[in-house]
Amino acid sequence: MWFSRFLPMSLMKPARLQLVPQLQALSLNLACEWIRVGNYLFDAPNISPADFVIGNPPYIRLEDMDDATMGTYRAMYRTMRGRADIYVAFFEAALRRLKPNGVCAFICADRWMFNQYGTELRQFVAQGFSVETVVEVHNVDAFSQYVSAYPAITVIRRKKQGPVVVGSLGASAEAVGGGALATSLRTIQLGKSEMHVSSKLQAARVETWFTSADPWPHVSPVRLALLRQLEDQFPLLESIETGTKVGIGVATGLDEMFITTNSELVEPSRLLPLAMAADTVKGHVHWSGHYLVNPWGPESRLVELEQFPHLKGYLRLHEDRLRKRHTAQQNPQQWYRTIDRVNHELVSKRKLYIPDIKLRINPVFDDGQTYPHHNLYVVYSDQWDIEVLGGLLMSAVGQFFVECYGVRMRGGYYRFQAQYLRRIRVPVFQDVTPTQAALLIAAFRQRDVKLATRVALDIYRIQELPEEDSDE
Ligand SMILES: C[S@@+](CC[C@H](N)C(=O)[O-])C[C@H]1O[C@@H](n2cnc3c(N)ncnc32)[C@H](O)[C@@H]1O
Repeated sequence: MWFSRFLPMSLMKPARLQLVPQLQALSLNLACEWIRVGNYLFDAPNISPADFVIGNPPYIRLEDMDDATMGTYRAMYRTMRGRADIYVAFFEAALRRLKPNGVCAFICADRWMFNQYGTELRQFVAQGFSVETVVEVHNVDAFSQYVSAYPAITVIRRKKQGPVVVGSLGASAEAVGGGALATSLRTIQLGKSEMHVSSKLQAARVETWFTSADPWPHVSPVRLALLRQLEDQFPLLESIETGTKVGIGVATGLDEMFITTNSELVEPSRLLPLAMAADTVKGHVHWSGHYLVNPWGPESRLVELEQFPHLKGYLRLHEDRLRKRHTAQQNPQQWYRTIDRVNHELVSKRKLYIPDIKLRINPVFDDGQTYPHHNLYVVYSDQWDIEVLGGLLMSAVGQFFVECYGVRMRGGYYRFQAQYLRRIRVPVFQDVTPTQAALLIAAFRQRDVKLATRVALDIYRIQELPEEDSDE
């Protein structure tokens, strides 16, 4: 301001002095407006819309909150579901306040990105925001006090989803300095460079992001970039295009009663050869002689017990325990049902069984002889030659998908659950050449992962797979 130009020199000093208290009042008002004490979760709905929200929200587990306050937060913030930590509500509160194109930058625990309780928040983000940057900082000493959470920096903007920079900081990143790190990330974001790989910062640009509540994979930026590329190029394993389905074996709710090796226990037609996880360890189904005492008839309806006197006698013997099961209490007339129905059509199909907890993906072939028990996942297809598919899934590329989607457990084990298997990408069978198919069958039969991987890399048109992430 240049008032002085229009004032006589003699009035200059008094004018200045007059202004001081007014400016002081103004600055105090501003300071009070800017720096406030309050409960952000209660106050946020009434705070004016923001261009930026920057924060380090608290992590407080459900067990450590009092029920009344938690109830209020849950009522106010719809993403607070299940066992959600309080920081989930901070994300929702902050994102709701953003003006169009406004940005929320948090350093916060990253568990919500892939666990069950983060489902609603991922959905919320997918519906109205653009994830711009996700930088995992597990190995960085970012806080003055020890923090027992796995933190990440996320930048989320209120706009349509665009490309995302995914990064991971190494233990010595601090030496580089925030400004230099931000510049490296910005270079990638602007597309001036594809990726950055050093011991201090790994970062890559991913062109598309998740459009649903699906968990965000928990892998290094370089692996994530490859994963997104494959996801864009190939259809889901379970899809109409590939003619393939993924299912799970039958859960009974009382295995000791429903599973037997006695082939004369009830009518032969009520005994279904059952493949158990232990039957798959040799790389093919080596049936151990277990049967399911099968209460299901055609069209997956329960059979009339009057028609099967032996079955009826056996079930009546165990009626009390059968009725105590949750599934029987939900459906009292169906007290002798197993938790899952049996889909009889599956028995005679050529199919793959994939046991759940393993170090490596281990698809084994069943030539239409058995039905899977519930520790086995099952893959069958109208389109694929099932042994060719077995070879492809057995390869390091098949393993790569599950490592990206699944959570690694203690000892390096993975869960090969249907929810992860379904997200594996495969080409349509017609795109596999006869030579590739023959090689995959050979690899599958000989359990030759190296050969399977060589053919798979060719099919997926990739040079090599990035190294597996090291343990945290
Ligand atoms: C992870 S700490 C942030 C620490 C901060 N970055 C620092 O270096 O001091 C989270 C902070 O949120 C505050 N907090 C907890 N619940 C809050 C609420 N409902 N509203 C506002 N702040 C809250 C806590 O008191 C704590 O200071």
